[in-house]
Amino acid sequence: MTTMAHPNPDSIDQKSVMELESLILSLKTELQDRMTEIAMLKETGDAVSRELEKRVEERTAELLSANNQLRQEVSERERTEEKLKSFMDKLEQSNHELEDFAHVASHDLQEPLRKVTAFGDRLKAKYEKELGDQGRDYLERMQSAATRMQTLINGLLTYSRVTSKKQPFISVDLNIVVQEVLSDLEVRIEQTRGSVETGNLPEVFGDPLQMRQLMQNLIGNALKFTKKDEPPVIRISSRTLPAMKSGDPQEKGLYEITVQDQGIGFDEKYADRIFGVFQRLHGRGEYEGTGIGLSVCRKIVEHHGWSLEAKSQPGQGSAFVIRLPLNQNRE
Ligand SMILES: Nc1ncnc2c1ncn2[C@@H]1O[C@H](COP(=O)(O)OP(=O)(O)O)[C@@H](O)[C@H]1O
Ligand SMILES: [Mg+2]
Repeated sequence: MTTMAHPNPDSIDQKSVMELESLILSLKTELQDRMTEIAMLKETGDAVSRELEKRVEERTAELLSANNQLRQEVSERERTEEKLKSFMDKLEQSNHELEDFAHVASHDLQEPLRKVTAFGDRLKAKYEKELGDQGRDYLERMQSAATRMQTLINGLLTYSRVTSKKQPFISVDLNIVVQEVLSDLEVRIEQTRGSVETGNLPEVFGDPLQMRQLMQNLIGNALKFTKKDEPPVIRISSRTLPAMKSGDPQEKGLYEITVQDQGIGFDEKYADRIFGVFQRLHGRGEYEGTGIGLSVCRKIVEHHGWSLEAKSQPGQGSAFVIRLPLNQNRE
């Protein structure tokens, strides 16, 4: 019988127990370490979450106060807008009243005026001999005053019609408009030996008849207010101005159309006054006219949402500048 060498079971157990014990011990230490770590993490986490909460509270308070401020600003703005709107409404109403007045007055004034002219004619036809030289002179002056008054009334009517007889806007080629105006003024240009130079003009969106009135008045003035014995030299030109660098997205750039002459000019302190109805800087003895042309021009330009201004110096000629947006709103 062979005897096998068996390990001593007691000694094995003893060893395993010791190993196990040491394992447990190290696990315990490990566990304790982890627990401490967790406790530390928890503490840090709490501190972080407290800090976060505090910040959220602060931010909320900030937002609330900003919100309140914004609300205040909005309501203040609304109040201002309301005021502005009521002001605009009043302005529009008073404009309407003025237009009605100009319209009615022009019509009502025409009737008595026709009578003055008609009875003047009869007086002349029937009693010319009896009137004598002085009587005829009086009568003639009366008749010419009546004619002038008719011209003034017609001017007022034209003025009031700019907005009372609104026409739909269409695409208008200003080159053609100016050609037509120049052909209407052909005789006058020839008589004065004037020269007119025209650059390439844009196509605009507007009332074609009013475009014609506008150019007619400006070119007519440039032909009229010339120095004695000096033929008029007129330049009609256009250029584009790029959008301002203001960053304003509405600003799309401009067309600038200029009617320039080398005539008598005027002191620029009157540059605004001349656009008023019946406003004239030059006597009728020198240059005939009614003082309505430029007021019609400005009304037309404003009716289109454009601008018109004058630049001049006495003896140095004048320039009338129309400005309109490059991309007009065609809605
Ligand atoms: N091109 C110009 N050169 C000098 N003065 C001008 C010119 N255009 C207008 N004016 C001045 O502005 C005034 C008003 O012009 P406007 O309203 O056209 O009236 P009118 O031509 O009937 O006199 C003119 O009487 C004149 O004094
Ligand atoms: Mg005129």
